[in-house]
Amino acid sequence: MARINESYLNLKQSYLFDDIAKRVAAFRASHPEKNVISLGIGDVTRPLPQVCIDAMQKAVQEFADEATFRGYGPDRGYPFLREAIADGEYRSRGIDISPEEIFVSDGAKSDCGNIGDIFAQGNIVAISDPVYPVYLDTNIMAGRQVKLIDCSGRTSFAPEPPDFHADIVYLCSPNNPTGSALSRAQLQKWVDYARANEAILLYDSAYERFIREEGIPHSIYEIPGAKDCAIEFRSFSKTAGFTGVRCAYTIVPKALFARSDSSEKVSLHALWDRRQSTKFNGVSYIVQRGAAAIFTPEGRVQVDATIGYYLENAALILSGLREAGFECSGGVNAPYIWLKCPAGVGSWAFFDELLNRAAVVGTPGAGFGANGEGYFRLTAFGSRGATSEAVERIKKLMSI
Ligand code: MLT
Repeated sequence: MARINESYLNLKQSYLFDDIAKRVAAFRASHPEKNVISLGIGDVTRPLPQVCIDAMQKAVQEFADEATFRGYGPDRGYPFLREAIADGEYRSRGIDISPEEIFVSDGAKSDCGNIGDIFAQGNIVAISDPVYPVYLDTNIMAGRQVKLIDCSGRTSFAPEPPDFHADIVYLCSPNNPTGSALSRAQLQKWVDYARANEAILLYDSAYERFIREEGIPHSIYEIPGAKDCAIEFRSFSKTAGFTGVRCAYTIVPKALFARSDSSEKVSLHALWDRRQSTKFNGVSYIVQRGAAAIFTPEGRVQVDATIGYYLENAALILSGLREAGFECSGGVNAPYIWLKCPAGVGSWAFFDELLNRAAVVGTPGAGFGANGEGYFRLTAFGSRGATSEAVERIKKLMSI
């Protein structure tokens, strides 16, 4: 009989957001009269920017004509998108990333998980607690040793380089779930740590478009030395509403190396290139045309408007929660608001209370790790109406 990957047995029974979806489905089934508002999973609700719609419609039309029809595209992404990203996201900030260092994919979640393919099982992986569960679960699946770094209120939700050695470190800024963002000085410490430890930073920057404060880097490559030690993950999901369309990209600089068992330095760019060309057939041409449209002047204006809308939701949630007496943070450079549950109430108990008594769904902090216990996450991705209604219901609940 075939044997399983035993490491899967070390995982929690279900993925956090699956678990929540099941609980919410059960609640809806038993309370069909309730209008449940979800501020749980960070799924967007605003329509795609019009530039994306127009570009995708035009691209669909190309498939109707033999002269412009396309079959398989380049596994790493079409040059027009890779060039638009290199120009629009990096050169415009004075960062030299070449289009060949950009790998277009179907999602930052998949890339954050798949990147483990090119690293040895024996690496020590450092992960913040609380954390986006994909980093932890995918390393448990791979059977790697994971060490946790405190990222709780004690550290103002900013992970500091640990006093132990790690080979791989996951960082997420602006952070999911806490909504905090790392400053240049904090990131410089991580780059220094990585270089001193010959470690690789896996930098998840899926929410960079939400950064509003000066001095918060949008890319790890704004930090001197990062091109020698960091891989960056970016996504169109939260930037341009592509959660259902699927498009993201990962930067693997050519200057990035790790060691083989015989201590030889091997290019991570070459390994990732080999991995993607074997296991991935690229993102559809239509979707890539839609993604490229956001780098046009019109596209930028439309994306800024959508992000502005979500950040106004975030401000509304923050002020409402504070009025109701909650201690909360995030929501300024990020779409997530991280709040402290009422004294003595655990985060799953708070989840149940909000669902049962206010029909509002959030995400219990404990689902992001032990240090998330006693906290709760709300997202700003709802519609304005649903967001204000949810805030009013929470305020009412807390006043009883
Ligand atoms: C979240 O709610 O944490 C995210 O939407 C999940 C994801 O991006 O995979």
